[in-house]
Amino acid sequence: MIYSMTCYAQKFDSLALTPPMGWNTFNTFAGNFDEKIIRKMADILVSSGMKDAGYQYIIIDDNWTNTRDSLGFLTVDKGRFPSGLKVLSDYIHSKGLKLGLYSDAGYKTCGGFVASRGHEFQDALMFAGWGCDYLKYDWCNCEGIQAVGAYTTMRDALYAAKRPMVFSMCEWGNNKPWEWAASIAHLWRTTGDIIACWDCVDTHGGAYNSWGVMKILDMQDSLRIYAGPGHWNDPDMLEVGNGNLTITESRAHFSLWAMLAAPLISGNDLRTMSNGVLNILTNKEVIAVDQDSLGIQGFKQNNADSLEIWYKPLKNGDWALCFFNRGSKPVDFHYEWKDHIIVDHVAKLELRFDNQTYFLRDIWMKKDIGTTGKPFISKIPSHDVVMLRLKK
Ligand code: GLA
Repeated sequence: MIYSMTCYAQKFDSLALTPPMGWNTFNTFAGNFDEKIIRKMADILVSSGMKDAGYQYIIIDDNWTNTRDSLGFLTVDKGRFPSGLKVLSDYIHSKGLKLGLYSDAGYKTCGGFVASRGHEFQDALMFAGWGCDYLKYDWCNCEGIQAVGAYTTMRDALYAAKRPMVFSMCEWGNNKPWEWAASIAHLWRTTGDIIACWDCVDTHGGAYNSWGVMKILDMQDSLRIYAGPGHWNDPDMLEVGNGNLTITESRAHFSLWAMLAAPLISGNDLRTMSNGVLNILTNKEVIAVDQDSLGIQGFKQNNADSLEIWYKPLKNGDWALCFFNRGSKPVDFHYEWKDHIIVDHVAKLELRFDNQTYFLRDIWMKKDIGTTGKPFISKIPSHDVVMLRLKK
C-alpha cells in the first residue's frame, strides 16, 4: 500500500506586514550581556517611549546558548541567565514586548556557541516553548551546506512548532536571498555586518568585510523590486547613537533606512542614550514613512553634486522625499517642482507637479512648510537630510 503525505509547511503568513521594529543586543554588547541587561533594555524601551513609537522585539543575539542536555535540548548559561529563558520571556511579554532569539544554520554560531544544525525541529520546539516571537538565523560555519535547503528546513521547523515567529534570515546576501526567500522568511540580510562609522570598511585582516552606513546604503537600490509586506530587504540593524556617527549622521542613517522600508532594529545602549538620539529613534513621522502599509521600498531619483534625492510612494497618494547631502560641505539648493516628473517603474506610479499641488510637511522640523506651488529653497549641512512628506 502506498501512503501519501501532504506537507503544508510554509512560513507564518500575516507577520511583519510592515518592517519589524525592535532592539538587538549585538551592536552594543556583542556577546557581553546577561538577563539583567535584557530586562533593563525592556524597561527602557517602554519608559523612553520607544515602545509607543513602534519598537516591540527585544532580540537576544549571539552568545546565549550553552550546551545541549542529554536529550539534545538547548540549555542556557545559568550564570548569565539564572532565571532561565522562560521567566525572562514572560517578563518581556509582561511589558507588552516580544522576544527574539538567535541561532545559526551551522553546528556553531558566529561566536562559536551551540547552534541548530541537525536539531532544527527540536530547537524550534524549544524556542516556541520559551515564548519566542522572532528568530534571527545566521550563516556561520555553514561551509558545504546549501542556503535554500538550510533556511527552508528551519522555516518548516518553526511552522511545525506552531508558534508564529518572524523568521529573519542572516546569510549576508551571499546567495541572493531576495530571489528566493520570500516564501521562506519575513526578512533577509542583504549585506555583511554594519559597523558604526559613516563610510568605512573593516576587512578583518582580509577574512570578511563589515561596512559603514554609506557602503551598506549603496548596496540596496537594485533590490527594491524584491521587498514588500511580509518580505523585506534587511540592510542590517541601526547604528543610530553608536560609534563615531555624529547626531547628524545618525539622523541621515535613520531617515534613509526609513526610505528603504528597512527593519528598524536599534542597537544602541538605551541606558546612556542622549535626548538627541532618542528624538531620532522616536520620530513618529519618520517611522510612519518606514511603516507605511504599502510597503514600497524607496528609490534614489538622482544624485547630482553629492545631493541625493530619494522618493518613496506612500498610502493615500502621499510621497516621502528625502534630500540627502552626502558631501562634506553644506549644500544650498533650489528645487523647482515643476521641472520634475518622478516615475516609480517598480510600483508603476508617477508623481508630477504640473497638474497637482502637494502640501509639504517637514518631518524632522515637524512643521507644515507650504506647497509645491513655489520652489523649495533650503540649505542642508554635510551628512544631513531634509525629509518631507508630500500630501495632496
Ligand atoms: C553575524 C551576524 C551579526 C551578528 C553576529 C553574532 O556576524 O551577521 O548580525 O548576529 O554574527 O555573532
